[in-house]
Amino acid sequence: MADRIVLTDRQIGRIDPNLHGHFAEHLGRCIYGGLWVDDGPPAETVDGLRADTLELLADLDIPMLRWPGGCFADDYDWTDGIGPRENRPRTRNAHWTQGRANVPEESNAFGTHEFLTLCEHLECEPYLAANVGTGSPDLAADWVEYCNYDGDTDLVDRRRENGRIEPWDVRYWGVGNENWGCGGNFTPENYAHEYRRFATYLRSLRSPMDIELDLVACGHFAGDWNDAFLETLGEDVEMVDHLSVHRYYSAGHATDFSSEEYYELFANSRRLLADIDAAAETIDDHAPPEAIGVAVDEWGVWHPVAENDNGLEQPNTVRDAISAAGILDGFNNRADVISMANLAQTVNVLQCLVQTDQESAWATPTYRVFELHRPHRNRQATAVEMSTERVQEDEEMAVPLLTASASRDSTDWYITLSNRDLDARAVSIDVDGHDPTVTDATVLFGHADPAAYPTGPGETPSPTMLDTATEGGSVTLSLPGSSVAGVRLT
Ligand code: AHR
Repeated sequence: MADRIVLTDRQIGRIDPNLHGHFAEHLGRCIYGGLWVDDGPPAETVDGLRADTLELLADLDIPMLRWPGGCFADDYDWTDGIGPRENRPRTRNAHWTQGRANVPEESNAFGTHEFLTLCEHLECEPYLAANVGTGSPDLAADWVEYCNYDGDTDLVDRRRENGRIEPWDVRYWGVGNENWGCGGNFTPENYAHEYRRFATYLRSLRSPMDIELDLVACGHFAGDWNDAFLETLGEDVEMVDHLSVHRYYSAGHATDFSSEEYYELFANSRRLLADIDAAAETIDDHAPPEAIGVAVDEWGVWHPVAENDNGLEQPNTVRDAISAAGILDGFNNRADVISMANLAQTVNVLQCLVQTDQESAWATPTYRVFELHRPHRNRQATAVEMSTERVQEDEEMAVPLLTASASRDSTDWYITLSNRDLDARAVSIDVDGHDPTVTDATVLFGHADPAAYPTGPGETPSPTMLDTATEGGSVTLSLPGSSVAGVRLT
């Protein structure tokens, strides 16, 4: 029997474009080699940034980029990364090697100006993560002043001397990263006290600059971290705009997996959606409705092959991309609570959008999924009723074989679907209240091997047209095994 989808008018919430955000850390070849090339050719550069990577990211119109970490953020002194590059200190990277095995060092060639120039090229929102681990409220507040203030202070003079006259008006600031672990091993109570101190001084700079800062607090999926943190803040919970959730997952080897492991990746990815529900429920217990958004500011597939010595690099397969499609559908279906999300990590590292070698850059299959989901941005997510099969009845592995989400504006509906079944599935789509007409339908990965991954330009599958029919008021289609589709209806 065909899987059945019914599109309803039940509104979930606006799909914030920032749900399609990304994350770049000083780790492996993400920044150095991937985004920035110190020593020029063979890659062409624009303001020191790789032109080929830039073009791919600009084409995708990425809405937000988080930087400089990750774990790196909680040992980063932003003042090391400004001023003439030849004068910048060479410092430790407490957590990561930088593209060369066993070299956990940082040149500081890529700093605040370089990152914010990158965001200007991409026309995306910068999101800076401040150092709570080894830093201070003073260091963090100085960073806000340096980036955002337009007055007559020494720091602002330094920014001008360093070539930037106008402030950048950075809105999003993280108060640390994973402070329950690499960001200082705090207890939730101690982190709450630190959070209050940092937020007080970060927010003190709000009025002269005339922009509202959005502060992201560090949350956790484990134990009672979120509850204890928010409880300890008490009335100061109003200092929190977003609470973060991080989740990575894998199943078996990156490319050599059994069919059971193939499905297990989707089962494991679903934990992220459960984390979001749990964080939203805890927020509800402590804060007024809609006061705090869930910020999924790190997520994605992390295969065992991605280790520190290889700069957390891994093959980026079609299976990984299909898992991302299911998660993006899940985000739309919780657009009422999620305020941003940042896939880890943009270029070369983990589940990246773009991979590079010395001469060229190419899109990963996951890039194509983000492209397919792009029309959802800024539209109203609407509830989808769905019946499909599950891969097994066992609760842990009860992976629905189909995922779907829908959004609408005044003219049409946009529906995305992912078929995790290794075989084709017949799907019928009905719209509550009227007979739909399909205006566009495309499919990704139609006949690709789920273990396939690109190793150079021209190898990434592109979308193709998907055949649909309309029978008795229902749209019918057949989704190839292991595929992702986008359908537009009026
Ligand atoms: O993305 C790699 C690392 O994963 C980040 O530095 C850290 O925040 C997380 O544990």
